[in-house]
Amino acid sequence: MKINDLDLRNWKNYDEIITDSLWLFPSRDNSGMHTPKYHGNFIPQIPRQAMLRFTKRGEWVLDTFAGLGTTLIEAKRLGRNAIGIEIDENTANMARELIEQEENPYNVYTDIIIGDSTKEETYEDLPNFQMVIIHPPYWDIIKFSKNNGDLSNSKTLNEFLERFERVVYLSSQHLDEGRYLVLVIGDKYSKGEWVPLGFYCMNSVMKNGFKLKSIVVKNIEENRGKRGQYALWRYRALKDGYYIFKHEYVMFFVKDS
Ligand SMILES: C[S@@+](CC[C@H](N)C(=O)[O-])C[C@H]1O[C@@H](n2cnc3c(N)ncnc32)[C@H](O)[C@@H]1O
Repeated sequence: MKINDLDLRNWKNYDEIITDSLWLFPSRDNSGMHTPKYHGNFIPQIPRQAMLRFTKRGEWVLDTFAGLGTTLIEAKRLGRNAIGIEIDENTANMARELIEQEENPYNVYTDIIIGDSTKEETYEDLPNFQMVIIHPPYWDIIKFSKNNGDLSNSKTLNEFLERFERVVYLSSQHLDEGRYLVLVIGDKYSKGEWVPLGFYCMNSVMKNGFKLKSIVVKNIEENRGKRGQYALWRYRALKDGYYIFKHEYVMFFVKDS
């Protein structure tokens, strides 16, 4: 089964497509949207790389935590249909505006559903998808809204993981066999301890009938922040015996047939 539009007879010509597991980006690609009103969007290169490798033009992509709609904007650029689910109405409306502003050269369908991706009814009228992308809150690192259903308001790690797993289960019901689920997640550091959210979530996906294909470590070099602040982090790291927290994971899974 072919799951992308790449012609392997020309494999040497696909310079844009990354095949290494370490993704280092010098800075945000400013062609995506980045608004000071919202923190927590991923860089457009992530959904772009994933769609180029694991979908064909005209196929359908589901983003269960749509945020500002980065996936949907890239989907329009690449000619993929895409649906995003976003619990926060303000965020969803901002996303709709941004997506609307983007040209639609391939005449694809995009839509943001305002809803809770842990709830079965949210998926009721959805079609089948050829790729699912999941970029949840990294538990409570950034509080996205006051909504109780928002995963960033989970009171305990277990509650966060149960809700996350529910999203994996429900979205996988709409994913074709042999197709990819892409998880974008970071870890958390709390009270002197590294909390490996990425690996807990990875286990949840694998328990739900998925095979792990790759773990990519992604970093943006510009995030060193203000020099003074970085010096302080470095001092603390040296003093307290840990490493400065920077990378995130992009994990690729395939739905077992
Ligand atoms: C890490 S951000 C995703 C950002 C997105 N990838 C982008 O580039 O803009 C997580 C998003 O999930 C939303 N969210 C949290 N819990 C949710 C839920 N249960 N159902 C749907 N969306 C939820 C938050 O409001 C937030 O916008």
